[in-house]
Amino acid sequence: MKTVLNKPTLLLIPVPIAIVSVGCETLGDNLIAISWIGVAASEPPQIAIGVRRNNRFSYKHLIENGEFGVNIPIEDIVSAAASTGRLHGDKVDKWVEAGFTRMKAVEISVPLVAECPINMECVVRHRLELGSHDLFIGEVVASHAEDSILKDGVIDIDNIAPLVYLPSTGKYFGLKRPEVFSH
Ligand SMILES: Cc1cc2nc3c(=O)[nH]c(=O)nc-3n(C[C@H](O)[C@H](O)[C@H](O)COP(=O)(O)O)c2cc1C
Repeated sequence: MKTVLNKPTLLLIPVPIAIVSVGCETLGDNLIAISWIGVAASEPPQIAIGVRRNNRFSYKHLIENGEFGVNIPIEDIVSAAASTGRLHGDKVDKWVEAGFTRMKAVEISVPLVAECPINMECVVRHRLELGSHDLFIGEVVASHAEDSILKDGVIDIDNIAPLVYLPSTGKYFGLKRPEVFSH
């Protein structure tokens, strides 16, 4: 027996969590936690992110400068990662609040988060207006991975502690241990 919920609801569980770095000339740079994110295509490699049009300072950066960094957080920095999804960049400097360090990208003007062991540099190729959110599809133009998590050139799951998120609960889970953070 199953229940049909009283309205159509997003029931994807769990979802990934990324810290997306953005930046543009007029507003400087900023960080935003993004869970509406996924692989959009393999060749050329493309990633889609859904960003709410109102109440997201980062949306303005993405419109002005179609470049973004996808930075993958791990268990050790879950609380700092969560802060980028709670605070607004027009009120506070999230780099300082989270204790994150800027790392220079090689192909884009937006900085990457040094503390994240995986970073991808993206250039927006398409934007779709989808009601509450815009979907930005970015081509991955450069990828970085910490040497310690690589084995024969690919990511070794034994050497990384990835995170997932359960949107309806505000809880973060590690894939190696059960729940690691909740806000
Ligand atoms: C785990 C997590 C995931 C989130 N995912 C998204 C998302 O995919 N799209 C979005 O627009 N906001 C998302 N948010 C909300 C923004 O990160 C949040 O509103 C942030 O404070 C916006 O920052 P800004 O105003 O500096 O851009 C998420 C928040 C959290 C905690």
